[in-house]
Amino acid sequence: MTRLRELGSWLALERHHQQIDGRHLRELFAADPERGTRLTAEAAGLYLDYSKHRVTEETISLLARLADERGLAERREAMFRGERINVSENRPALHVALRMPRERSLVVDGIDVVKQVHEVLDRMATFSERVRRGEWRGHSGEPIRNLVNIGIGGSDLGPEMAYEALRHYSRSAPRELTFRFVSNVDGTDFAEATRDLDPAQTLFVVCSKTFTTLETMTNARTAREWLLAGLGAGAEAIADHFVAVSTNAEAVGEFGIDPENMFEFWDWVGGRYSLGSAIGISTMVAIGPERFAELLAGFHALDEHFREAPTERNLPALVGLLGVWYADFFGAQTTAVLPYDQYLKRFPAYLQQLTMESNGKRVTLAGEGVEHETAAVLWGEPGTNGQHSFHQLLHQGTKLVPCDFIGFCEPLNPLGDHHDLLIANLFAQTQALAFGRSTDEVRAEGVPEELVAHRVFDGNRPSTTILAQRLTPATLGSLVALYEHAVFTQGTVWGIDSFDQWGVELGKLLAKRIVPELRSNHEPELDHDSSTAALVRRYRGGWDEG
Ligand code: F6P
Repeated sequence: MTRLRELGSWLALERHHQQIDGRHLRELFAADPERGTRLTAEAAGLYLDYSKHRVTEETISLLARLADERGLAERREAMFRGERINVSENRPALHVALRMPRERSLVVDGIDVVKQVHEVLDRMATFSERVRRGEWRGHSGEPIRNLVNIGIGGSDLGPEMAYEALRHYSRSAPRELTFRFVSNVDGTDFAEATRDLDPAQTLFVVCSKTFTTLETMTNARTAREWLLAGLGAGAEAIADHFVAVSTNAEAVGEFGIDPENMFEFWDWVGGRYSLGSAIGISTMVAIGPERFAELLAGFHALDEHFREAPTERNLPALVGLLGVWYADFFGAQTTAVLPYDQYLKRFPAYLQQLTMESNGKRVTLAGEGVEHETAAVLWGEPGTNGQHSFHQLLHQGTKLVPCDFIGFCEPLNPLGDHHDLLIANLFAQTQALAFGRSTDEVRAEGVPEELVAHRVFDGNRPSTTILAQRLTPATLGSLVALYEHAVFTQGTVWGIDSFDQWGVELGKLLAKRIVPELRSNHEPELDHDSSTAALVRRYRGGWDEG
């Protein structure tokens, strides 16, 4: 494969960047009155306005050429066919199969994975309805009122984000249920999540693809002790209060969870791509199986769009390629996602794992060092809160931070003029970033000369606006799939493996070595660097040593 930086499209983009770099969005908009409607695309209920980006149509066609030269179409087909595109783990990355309708079939290694998916979805639906109707009873016969999801990373961020995002739809549940999410190995997380819960009415969902993750297994064991102590019961109570979501049936059984109460998924589902699998079971309990099916349908609609639409009109491809444009040609190190919807408050955290665990890589698929930037640091907060904290830097700082603004036309909680104020702020932020306020404009307002420089906004700061009619399960599915495939597009251009996560392993390994040193009754022999050794000694209470 030709090296990325030597491709014709890359070289053309470098030359093109020199022209674009000197142009202001004010000028681009003035030159083209239709720009604000032309540089937009729409699919699966999402309207994408990318006109406030430092691009022209030529930029988009060059980026599309780059995607083409990097084999986006072929790699995408390989993903949809279930080929082992996750080369370093020798697995398919087949999350798109989780959202395929029942009547579809996708045979991978002789197995119809869509059939498997729907068998599990059906079991999940039966379970969810039992809990929702109060038919699932705890060991002492009381109906379940509290569901605690135990997991971390993809086994937590997706469930928690989706629960928060779709809370509005959990109101129609037949019974009031409380949902909690425990992820951190810090005991405070478990203690605070369960402080006010009655064990007799509490069901734990232990979510772990591997069922070996230190944090999850520690929290699950603590939950087991908490439950049995609270109930004053023996191990026979576990079956009524624990279910598992995993690919590891053996470890689930060893933990004491009835295999009947295990919901399976497969090694071709990456943790951060698992929301549509049984990992989403807490979401299904919260919103019901029908709404969960709408969530999957939203994912699927965007999957189909990604597979079929030409790059120039393909939402995830555009979002992904714009990310490449800023990371590699403008040197942007970070990107912000700013949902103007309180229900999406965990969405940036969810996207952090999706984008940074996927594309925070420094070697190519072939294991060679990359010669270009990869994933930007992603961060964000819901609007309008961010406006009163970090937006100062976005508007007047020295860094270029491309932003994604996400908003909805209809509020889910219509209260007075709140929603108009919220959305007016979203639109105003994108305007202020793009067009700023020039020195002449500031002077014309009569600002004292010594303050003029402070009051000027350079503008020319890029943003995407994503608008949808209403935050529904389907819109959420489309939104998540939009970012999943944007990540895929970037990974393809960068030639990296977006589906492995070796970077998390070293810390896990070293922690395993340190645990016995912290717990040992005798002074352990420490074979560490001097900093780590001193920290271990200080933790153990050897304050005046070293
Ligand atoms: O942090 C690494 C990671 O493997 C993530 O990719 C994953 O989502 C998380 O740990 C949890 O893993 P598991 O579901 O196996 O407990």
